[in-house]
Amino acid sequence: MAFPPSFLEELAARNPIEEVVGQYVNLRRSGSNLFGLCPFHGEKTASFSVNPEKGIYYCFGCHKGGSVINFQMEIEGLSYPDAVRALAKRAGMEVPEDAQYQNRYHQQERLWALSKEAARFYHTQLYSPAGEEGLAYAQKRGMPKSTLTRFGIGFAPNAWSSLCDAMMAKGYTEEELKQSGLASTSQKTGKVYDRFRNRLMFPIIDVRGNVIGFGGRVMDDSTPKYLNSPETVIFNKRKNLFALNLAKKSKLGYMILVEGYMDAVALHQYGFDCAVASLGTSLTEEHAALLSRYTEQVMLIYDGDDAGQNATKRAIPMLEKAGLQVKVLQMRDAKDPDEFLKKFGADRFRLLLEESSNRVEYQLRAIQKKYDLREDDQRIQFIGEAAEFISTLGNAVQREIYGGRVAEAAGISADSMKIEVNKAFKRRISREKKKQERIDLSPAAGHQPKDRHIRYDNIKSAMAEESLIAMLLREPALLSSCDGLSQELFSSQLLGRVYEQLVQSFGQGIEVSLASLTDFSPEEMSHIALLLQRHDGPVSEQALADCIRTIRTEHQMQTTKSAKNNDDLLSFQKQLLARKGFKT
Ligand code: UTP
Ligand code: MN
Repeated sequence: MAFPPSFLEELAARNPIEEVVGQYVNLRRSGSNLFGLCPFHGEKTASFSVNPEKGIYYCFGCHKGGSVINFQMEIEGLSYPDAVRALAKRAGMEVPEDAQYQNRYHQQERLWALSKEAARFYHTQLYSPAGEEGLAYAQKRGMPKSTLTRFGIGFAPNAWSSLCDAMMAKGYTEEELKQSGLASTSQKTGKVYDRFRNRLMFPIIDVRGNVIGFGGRVMDDSTPKYLNSPETVIFNKRKNLFALNLAKKSKLGYMILVEGYMDAVALHQYGFDCAVASLGTSLTEEHAALLSRYTEQVMLIYDGDDAGQNATKRAIPMLEKAGLQVKVLQMRDAKDPDEFLKKFGADRFRLLLEESSNRVEYQLRAIQKKYDLREDDQRIQFIGEAAEFISTLGNAVQREIYGGRVAEAAGISADSMKIEVNKAFKRRISREKKKQERIDLSPAAGHQPKDRHIRYDNIKSAMAEESLIAMLLREPALLSSCDGLSQELFSSQLLGRVYEQLVQSFGQGIEVSLASLTDFSPEEMSHIALLLQRHDGPVSEQALADCIRTIRTEHQMQTTKSAKNNDDLLSFQKQLLARKGFKT
């Protein structure tokens, strides 16, 4: 274990969770919990809870949760050790620097420094003889020097080791070059060589200004068109957006989300300095949450092709779930924003922005496109699908307005459309009610962890395990009454691990709470926070004994069952062998 649990316990005690969270969220007391608007997803009713006694936070909306340390990590985008350092500083405590964390922190710092050096190297190459072709290509793509400077765009020379040589001359090791994803290792010779060669280089910079990776574009039609840095200790595609470091300072009051590096660069160049691009991956919930920290409104501009349209459909609900207001711009007369701007200029683009439709209109238009409204049967189908969609709108005015529009397009009266929408609404409600009933009636489904990786195999045992862990976290002294209970008896691997850590710390004389659990992922911590919220019953020796009994019985049954399966298999094999004339 890295930071000593005793230190973490003191850290948690001196940073009361309600105070730390209170710096970011307006909290109101309600019973033993405090509630506020969740800072991690947009919402209008408070589903974010803080329980000072248990030292946890948990959002019933987005299911994020954990200890004060997890909160600090999540809200400030810090690594675990950095969050610990920040809290220590807040409480005026000294941090016992552990070698393992020192190393990891040190490694990150080295990789950031190396990546920055590499970006500088690539940028200077652009203006050197080795970079002539790169500069010519950048000019051909319509990028003036000011753009190249603002984005730190560079060129990776057409050679196998120019970057490695330059970086090693500055004292970076082969190992560090590999860890940064800037170099690869040759299978044959085992030597390292430059990953990026003969490519125009786009540095990817996080919101704190660190260079964390690169995208490199070829200058002809070869593939891959863009080569990106692999995932590294400092680079996570799912959590970063290209150009957000610049766009977060924009005064435009909204963000433009595009697919390509070149699109983002062109938009900035033409004055739309609020553009960001995802990094060659589809949009993730993390991206949406990240954006929602800097803006409330997103203009989505994906390519006009089928892939782009599908990506748009996926992105809209994800952005809305993060509390963002979404508008969609339909690309016209050009493949992407880069091409459009270069063909028609900024003013025409501004017109496009202004006339761009909101999500509802976009969806309705997509539905309408599927049908030929001159055909009666298709018109009927169109009305049905449109009514279905309109019935999902939460706002009566919206239903009225868009219903009217559909009626007009389909050539029916607004009143008939209203009837269709109401019917669709009733159908949906009854469907949803049935679905909810099924969930309620099967308790197992409701108790399954939100994260698929933590699924419970044995719900009955898992509930006893949860309840036990909840009691032990609130009353660690009860660990002395857990004689004979061991990690292997747990049906849930996660809960078994928690138990093991509690036992170990207790053995060292430390009474642990959530804050001193280490080695658990954010999803696992969220789940542990949830189970603490869920199990609120009395803490007693009796209740504990009941849990232990259930865990034992279930384990016993499981073992007998698999033993029986084994026996069945054995006797079956014996029969087979006997039938074939073997003696057994
Ligand atoms: P596009 O093919 O639309 O490229 O890919 P683009 O941005 O318009 O580039 P230009 O104008 O041809 O130079 C969109 C994005 O998908 C990712 C990149 O992030 C790219 O910007 N991508 C694409 C890759 O990561 N690798 C590829 O091979 C292609
Ligand atoms: Mn393009």
